[in-house]
Amino acid sequence: MNTENPTLDVLQSAQTDLNRFECVRQIVARQGNSPSRLIPILREIQSIFHYLPEDLLEFAAHLLQIPPARVYGVATFYTHFSLEPKGRHVIHVCDGTACHVKRSEALIHAMRKRLNLKPGQKTTDDMAFTLETVSCLGACGLAPVIVVDGTPHGMMTPESCVELIDRILEEEQTESPAQAEPAHATDNI
Ligand code: FES
Repeated sequence: MNTENPTLDVLQSAQTDLNRFECVRQIVARQGNSPSRLIPILREIQSIFHYLPEDLLEFAAHLLQIPPARVYGVATFYTHFSLEPKGRHVIHVCDGTACHVKRSEALIHAMRKRLNLKPGQKTTDDMAFTLETVSCLGACGLAPVIVVDGTPHGMMTPESCVELIDRILEEEQTESPAQAEPAHATDNI
């Protein structure tokens, strides 16, 4: 924030908003402004913003000429979509039966501790990580399983989970020292 020039802050914020709406306008133009393209449009918006901001959902509804309620209906029906901001890295921990038996709870506990997540908190204060549990990921033979930024990791232990988080943070700092975190996991199943 530019405390010396509040007007500049307002202008920069307005420019950012314009860019966000322009981005959605381009997505709709590329996907086609038919209501039947709503799901791929929402998918693209989420992949760019990491969640579905309310104002952009309303703008998409406007461009598709459909009621905002219809857009919200789709956005809230599919668990893949999120109306809450997510971290730069998303960790899904499988808590299905096979993973639960193999102590997935210990993985969750270790990662929540490493990420300093308070009870009920899913996303770190610095927006680096979001930690969520999911049901069976279909890789029960490799339980317990976690998925980090879309990459699955099998036979995890609390220690290997923490190491993975540390490696991501390290790689992120190497790639962008100014940012204070990121990187992509490489331990495929
Ligand atoms: S229960 Fe975790 S992959 Fe099936």
